[in-house]
Amino acid sequence: MPDYALLSRQLDALLDTPDWLTNSAQTCALLIEELPDLNWVGFYLQRRPGMLHLGPFQGKPACHPIPFDKGVCGAAARSRQTQRVNDVHAIADHIACDAASRAELVIPVVVDDQLWGVLDLDSPQVDRFTAEDQAGIEALVDVFVARSRLAAFVD
Ligand code: SME
Repeated sequence: MPDYALLSRQLDALLDTPDWLTNSAQTCALLIEELPDLNWVGFYLQRRPGMLHLGPFQGKPACHPIPFDKGVCGAAARSRQTQRVNDVHAIADHIACDAASRAELVIPVVVDDQLWGVLDLDSPQVDRFTAEDQAGIEALVDVFVARSRLAAFVD
């Protein structure tokens, strides 16, 4: 189990600019380096109404764009609730960017009551994400939000 309190402090120190682009790239890089058994970490941003556009990420080239009514990322964007999936092969509405991905965690990023985007993590290991991982990674997203100037999407 990673030391999420330590990771939060490391991320807080790493994000020393309000620039969301720099900070989102740095956040992905820290997560893929420090968390075991991940094959993809990245942000999708709401750049148009109801559509998620691929942002900074680490891993293989990925699906783009993703409408709110599709996939695990779309479910997170629609519901504004974290989606924790133990095995994506069991989910009909999963968008397979990489057949190696088995578990997925998608955390919505909400700014000024608007869905700014989501952070998506994929793992080749079934049951990779526990409730403790979810809470720890949600806290890391809180650090990203607190450190960054995030312009809320305006319709
Ligand atoms: N699996 C996601 C699509 C994004 S990729 O995993 C990078 C989904 O079902 O929304």
